[in-house]
Amino acid sequence: MTNESIPLRVGIVGTSWWADAMYLPAFAAHSGASVVGLCGRTAATAKALADTWDVPCFSVDSDDFLDPERLDAVVVATSTDSHEELTMTALDRGLHVLCEKPLAPDLAAADRMARRAAETGAITLVPFTYRYMPTNQFVKRLVDTGYVGAPFHLNMRYFTGYARDHDYNWRFDQALAGSGVLGDLGSHWLHVARWLLGEITHIGCVSNSFYQRGPRPDSTPYEQNEDSALMTVRFANGAHGSLQVCAASWEGTEFNQTHHLDLHGADGTIYAVNDWSNLQQVSGVRADQPGPAQVLEIPNDIWNGARRDRVHDTYRDVFRAGGAMVGDWVDAVRAGQPIEPDLAEGAMVQHLIELATQSAAGDGRLLDARR
Ligand SMILES: NC(=O)c1ccc[n+]([C@@H]2O[C@H](COP(=O)([O-])OP(=O)(O)OC[C@H]3O[C@@H](n4cnc5c(N)ncnc54)[C@H](O)[C@@H]3O)[C@@H](O)[C@H]2O)c1
Repeated sequence: MTNESIPLRVGIVGTSWWADAMYLPAFAAHSGASVVGLCGRTAATAKALADTWDVPCFSVDSDDFLDPERLDAVVVATSTDSHEELTMTALDRGLHVLCEKPLAPDLAAADRMARRAAETGAITLVPFTYRYMPTNQFVKRLVDTGYVGAPFHLNMRYFTGYARDHDYNWRFDQALAGSGVLGDLGSHWLHVARWLLGEITHIGCVSNSFYQRGPRPDSTPYEQNEDSALMTVRFANGAHGSLQVCAASWEGTEFNQTHHLDLHGADGTIYAVNDWSNLQQVSGVRADQPGPAQVLEIPNDIWNGARRDRVHDTYRDVFRAGGAMVGDWVDAVRAGQPIEPDLAEGAMVQHLIELATQSAAGDGRLLDARR
């Protein structure tokens, strides 16, 4: 437990657009934490970001940066290949860790990270951002309060278009990222599916690389990861589902990204859609009602004051003024209380990604996912 009057001293490793869009504004909105340093690979980028956000120091040396004399906690927001080394160093030095998804390029690394976190007692978080969005929070509440009854099947689709070029991108470099969309987007959907319906006992997958990508900056050869995947899952509660993630889709919307969820059960049906522009809606129909499904009003306590008209404004408000995820982690660290989803959940998701990758390399058949 930390001193109540002194803000948690946080360092952020990774100085890309993502630190700028998510972490720095979220910490700035929370009085319980202060970002005391940034660490990146390029001094000019780290300095520019530190100047923008009034962060007192920056570094390009992560070993020197992860100093428990200066930091209580660290955010690891770097490319996947560096997550393990940074997280292990931070844990070994007694820091609390928020580490980006997917945890690592492979399961062995993710398991080592989760084990070390358990040994040190650090408060950890893996930021599966989408569970915090109001539509998904409402779906979770409806499931937990029996709207669909016994669940039959869950279909979730994540369509986006960042793979629709031919440029080199570490996310599609097997040696650096392990998997492509399965790790990058599938990790989110696997976590949300587990959060909604519980343990996944079997998983299968078919995948493809629709876009051929250019060479590495240093021209060395590499194996290209999938940019589209369709997972089939079975849950311990008997439900089954399909989780589709594609970064090669054209949706034609402002952000070229859409999320859809359908859930059928014995007592009702839920549909949720988020077009990442103006539409973020949950509809439903109970088994004893005439259809079609009607829009269900997302309760005010779930909006928690967030703007509703533009999805990106909702997104900003949920994670900044609303204090979801980053703020929850800060509060948990200060209280000395574990929080979900932690590194153990990140490793479980990694296990499922690894099985999906194995299944896709074969004939797509279901593999036993029980650990
Ligand atoms: N949770 C989410 O919704 C979400 C959204 C976007 C990105 N991410 C995750 O954030 C991570 C970063 O993604 P990105 O799009 O910012 O990638 P990116 O390639 O744009 O940026 C990576 C950053 O990490 C830095 N970096 C890499 N290795 C480093 C090291 N050893 N020491 C210091 N800095 C190092 C780079 O300099 C760069 O600033 C990934 O794990 C990604 O999956 C998560």
